[in-house]
Amino acid sequence: MRVLSGIQPTGNLHLGNYLGAIRNWVRMQEEISAQGGQCLYFLADLHAISMPHDPAQLTANTRAMAAALVACGIDTDRSILFNQARVPAHAELQWLLNGTARMGWLNRMTQWKDKAGKNREGASAALFTYPVLQAADVLLYQTTHVPVGEDQKQHLELARDVAQKFNNDYCAPDAPVFTLPEPIIPKEAARIMSLRDGSAKMSKSDPSDMSRINLTDDADLMNQKVKKARTDPEPLPSEPEGLEGRAEARNLVGIYATLANQSVADVLRDFAGQGFGQFKPALAELMVEKLGPINQRFTALREDSAALDAILAKGAERARELATPTLDASYAALGLCR
Ligand code: TYM
Repeated sequence: MRVLSGIQPTGNLHLGNYLGAIRNWVRMQEEISAQGGQCLYFLADLHAISMPHDPAQLTANTRAMAAALVACGIDTDRSILFNQARVPAHAELQWLLNGTARMGWLNRMTQWKDKAGKNREGASAALFTYPVLQAADVLLYQTTHVPVGEDQKQHLELARDVAQKFNNDYCAPDAPVFTLPEPIIPKEAARIMSLRDGSAKMSKSDPSDMSRINLTDDADLMNQKVKKARTDPEPLPSEPEGLEGRAEARNLVGIYATLANQSVADVLRDFAGQGFGQFKPALAELMVEKLGPINQRFTALREDSAALDAILAKGAERARELATPTLDASYAALGLCR
């Protein structure tokens, strides 16, 4: 088994990233290394240049995100942690796969439609071909499993389509170059929603900081954000079905359940009939208890730029080695002489 996943380096993790993806990264690294498999986790800095950005900020954010992942429990002795820019094979394989990916496939990507908005003509070419780079990230390492939140499912389906078409078009049936990856999406926290709007996902690009819980928020701020979170006037139901049509309530109960490692049904058994005046303080307390220690480790780690650079350089060296056979096979399959 080979596990791989990535995150854009924004300098900060929010609760959606943590519950939707990073907790699974940490869990899988234990399971997979016990079975002799390999986990690779990376900072998608090449993806970050698809939107306008400040170069100095990107450098700082890449280190900060490395610190955040280590603070969450990524163990760099067991897992390979690196940033894409240190492994040129990602960009090389993207170019090779650009010959296989179809414009029609990319045009259907909801992230492209959301991020480009009405100004498609003004969007960067990198934003449009971003899913091909993501396919390259995954396919380069013969990845079998990709732990992500639900918003990345469509990109992984595209990676499978690219792999399949490349294998069909350029490889003998018994010698495919690429493995088809499976997404691993958590059941309860696949899509953590904004605290201000139960129909929008929690996101780093939301202009309102009150819409998300950041790993760096202190206890006071977490309390404030939970207190101000949008809800409805009804008490909590006794069964999960009672949350139908109550997006905000369902989101908060889902967050509680995931943080407490309980099912939604268990949480509702404890809080049935109670209003948000009672539920919100309990949720805020749980958040502070679970995220506080991560926040403390993050604050200590982020100061040491040299140590973070050393971690990323070491990870990249191992990633470059693992990437070489598949990159070579891709060039050869296409008839490219090197
Ligand atoms: P990114 O940086 O937007 O998010 C990182 C991870 O966090 C998950 N996530 C969420 N999960 C649940 N609820 C939310 N509100 C929420 N917001 C974010 C995302 O699903 C993701 O797993 N394109 C990717 C990075 C990437 C990648 C890859 C991932 C590049 N190459 C190859 C996997 C494999 C992205 O922008 O994630």
